[in-house]
This record gives sequence, structure tokens and C-alpha cells, in this order.
Amino acid sequence: MSSVLQKLISPLASTPAEPPRNKVTVVGVGQVGMACAISILLRDLCDELALVDVMKDRLKGEMMDLQHGSLFLKTSKIVADTDYAVTANSRLVVVTAGVRQQEGESRLNLVQRNVNVFKSIIPQIVKYSPNCTLVVVSNPVDVLTYVTWKLSGLPKHRVIGSGTNLDSARFRFLMAERLGIHASSFNGWVLGEHGDTSVPVWSGANVAGVNLQKLNPEIGTDDDSEQWKATHKAVVDSAYEVIKLKGYTNWAIGLSVADLTESIIKNMSRVHPVSTMVKDMYGIGEEVFLSLPCVLNSSGVSSVINMTLTDAEVGQLRNSADTLWGIQKDLKDV
Ligand SMILES: *[C@@H]1O[C@H](CO)[C@@H](O)[C@H](O)[C@H]1NC(C)=O
Ligand SMILES: *[C@@H]1O[C@H](CO)[C@@H](O)[C@H](O)[C@H]1NC(C)=O
Ligand SMILES: *[C@@H]1O[C@H](CO)[C@@H](O)[C@H](O)[C@H]1NC(C)=O
Ligand SMILES: *[C@@H]1O[C@H](CO)[C@@H](O)[C@H](O)[C@H]1NC(C)=O
Repeated sequence: MSSVLQKLISPLASTPAEPPRNKVTVVGVGQVGMACAISILLRDLCDELALVDVMKDRLKGEMMDLQHGSLFLKTSKIVADTDYAVTANSRLVVVTAGVRQQEGESRLNLVQRNVNVFKSIIPQIVKYSPNCTLVVVSNPVDVLTYVTWKLSGLPKHRVIGSGTNLDSARFRFLMAERLGIHASSFNGWVLGEHGDTSVPVWSGANVAGVNLQKLNPEIGTDDDSEQWKATHKAVVDSAYEVIKLKGYTNWAIGLSVADLTESIIKNMSRVHPVSTMVKDMYGIGEEVFLSLPCVLNSSGVSSVINMTLTDAEVGQLRNSADTLWGIQKDLKDV
């Protein structure tokens, strides 16, 4: 007696199953990891999504919850496990795992604790997906991207930090809002270190190719009577403000990571402000990661755009590099 399945479906193809072509893994199923996952799913960027975390129940719950949405998604396979074997053959791995800063904890101490966490994550990822591109989202992102690069042994173009991609998005939103236009129509870049010392490139800010600095030579400086500088301050403050209000930030970072994912998976060669190895650029002598405009294709960072920065802007980049190296040089076991 044949089963319903046998009566209903006659097999035709008998070739062995092929590995997924566009598999994406998200490590860490906290608020940030899940915002990345849902953004990637809703934009149809992968044929398989894998989730990994150490928290077994939460991980299974998140997987099931997403699987139950399959009817409304176009990603055929959603898997999760605490074992990294589930991540095998990923093209892209998004790392959102890590411990958070405790009250009164130094940055170095936080980074060192995260180095220890990453030592159990990164070699496992590379073991199962030796040809993947890694996108690091965990903070402090620039230092942890360096740590990931060292622990992975991957070439530098395959290890990317989400960097100032989000800072730039916030800047474009706030500037555009002040001008009464859509964020996509204000062109401006925030580079350097993600967070407090990020560098707004006022010399390049433009709408439709009209350079704002030509209209107001004081733009971005303290002497500017219109105080456009306040917009960049709002960018820096916005993460703290959102955290104060809702406890964490997740939606905008998730959306911004999906945008990077699209450029990489679809080999688009779009330019994004992301954290990359900047040694020997702008007179930086140490192995640090900072955000510069990077061309992203299927190989990861295919090239870096050489900006025409002012001396002051180059000085700010070098300062960020010095600060980061000050932390990195004291890290153990990297
Ligand atoms: C990784 O890429 C290399 C070179 O293209 C290839 O020979 C190798 O089979 C790939 N490994 C995996 C696991 O896909
Ligand atoms: C990726 O894009 C580049 C530049 O557009 C092109 O030369 C290359 O063939 C593409 N690679 C793949 C694998 O499609
Ligand atoms: C990405 O761009 C680099 C530099 O242009 C090129 O060498 C590489 O082949 C590209 N990657 C793919 C997958 O086409
Ligand atoms: C980048 O451009 C600047 C100014 O246009 C130039 O001085 C510098 O040498 C360029 N850097 C590289 C690596 O080409």
C-alpha cells in the first residue's frame, strides 16, 4: 500500500542534492542578530539562513518562529544549532555575538572578554565555511573586526566591520530631514571609528552634486551660524538616546547589515562606509580597522575609494587609528 506522499508525488530528478549557493549565517540571536536575520529574509537575499547561539532554547524558539513565517518568505531553508556544523558552506557570516559593557568596565577589559568569546566562534566559522566573507557587527566593532581578521586567518578583503555604515545612514536621515528631502537624496559620509569619534566628511556633503560647503564655507565648524555640526552630534548621541528609551538599538543596524549583505551576495560593487584594514593609508602605520568608502562585491572588499580629505579630516582619522591601536596592542591571545 503506497503512502499519500508516494501516490501524490512522482520523483523525476535523481541528481544528488547540491550545497546552497547563497547561504547566510547569523551568529547571535539577540535583538541585533534577529533584526539582521529578518531584514535579510525580507529582502530575499539568501536561499538558506542559519542561526547559531549558545542559548539553546532561545535559538530554537527564534528558528521556529521564523520557520512559521515561511509562507510569507522566499527563503526555502531556515536552520539553527549550537553546533557550527549547521553553518557549513555559508557565503556570508554575520557576527553579532559578544558580551556587553558592564557598568564601570574599561573598554580594554570589555574587548578582552570579547576576544575570549570570539576565540570560540571565529575558528569554528572558518572551519565550516573556509571561503566565506565575515561581517562583524559586535561592538566595539573596529577592534573586534581586527580580532576577527587575526583569529580567522582570512585575507583582509574577506573580513568587514559594519563600521560607520549605520552612522552614515543616521547622518543622511538627519541631514535630509533638515532639508526636507529623502535620506537617499542627501549624499554624505561618516567615516573613521564607529561611535564617538566618527568623522563626518563635510567636504563631500552634497545634494544632486551641489556641494554644501560651497554654499556655506563654515559648514560643520563651530563658527557656522546655522550649526550644521549639531547634526553629526545628534548622530553620535542617537545610539545612547535609543538605548535609553528602548534598552538597545536593533532595527536600523539590521537594515544596514542587510544592505551590505545585498552588495556582497549579488556582487553589486556598491560603495559603503565599512570598516577595513587601513594600514598604509593616510599615513596610518598600524594594523587597525576603520571605516572608509569600500566597494563591496562577492569577494568582500574589492577596493577602497581614495577620498580627497582635508588635512583636518586626515588628522581625525589618524587619531582614531592611534586610539584603536592603543587598545589592540595590549590584547592577549589574538
Ligand atoms: C574554496 O575555494 C577554493 C578556491 O576557489 C576551492 O578550491 C575550494 O573547493 C573552496 N572550498 C569550499 C569548502 O567551498
Ligand atoms: C562580479 O562583478 C564584477 C564587476 O562587475 C564582474 O567582473 C565579475 O565577473 C562578477 N563576478 C561574478 C562571480 O559574477
Ligand atoms: C571583486 O572585485 C575584485 C577587484 O576588482 C576582483 O578581483 C574580484 O574578482 C571581484 N570578485 C568577483 C567574485 O567577481
Ligand atoms: C589619494 O589621493 C590623494 C589626493 O588626491 C593623493 O595625494 C594620494 O597619494 C592618493 N593615495 C593613493 C594611495 O593613491
